[in-house]
Amino acid sequence: MVCLGNICRSPLAEGILQHKAKAAGLLWEVDSAGTSNYHIGEPPHRLSQKVALQHGIDISHQKGRQFTARDIQTFDKIFVMDTSNYADVQRMAGKYWDASKVDLLLNAIHPQSQQNVPDPWYGNEDGYHQVFNLISEACDCIIAKAQQGQH
Ligand code: 4NP
Repeated sequence: MVCLGNICRSPLAEGILQHKAKAAGLLWEVDSAGTSNYHIGEPPHRLSQKVALQHGIDISHQKGRQFTARDIQTFDKIFVMDTSNYADVQRMAGKYWDASKVDLLLNAIHPQSQQNVPDPWYGNEDGYHQVFNLISEACDCIIAKAQQGQH
């Protein structure tokens, strides 16, 4: 799960997918990263933590890290939050770039629709609830597809 800061959206996405995968009995390793180096080592934004906890998901242990080209090799699938993250991941991946592994998260709901998870960084708490709901719906689709053997 990749966003710009690894502090608002992708920590939520990591927590939500890990939570849902575990509940579904899937032994997935889920991680997140940011394309920027702005918040390396920091915990998730307090509003991401608050909204996740309201849904029974504790993300307080997470620490911000920067995406690396090697992540393309390490992980089977990379979900990015917006088209700008996609372009950054493609550039940073260099020779490791593999288009078959990288997709916009919301394409899990509406394939090839190229919709972005909006960045809540400059907004208020409402934005974090909207982002939680969008990511949660996308993760439900990811799990459902995996259970149907389509991942
Ligand atoms: P995120 O949000 O990409 O969802 O973690 C942001 C966090 C920090 C900044 C921008 C977006 N920033 O400019 O520091």
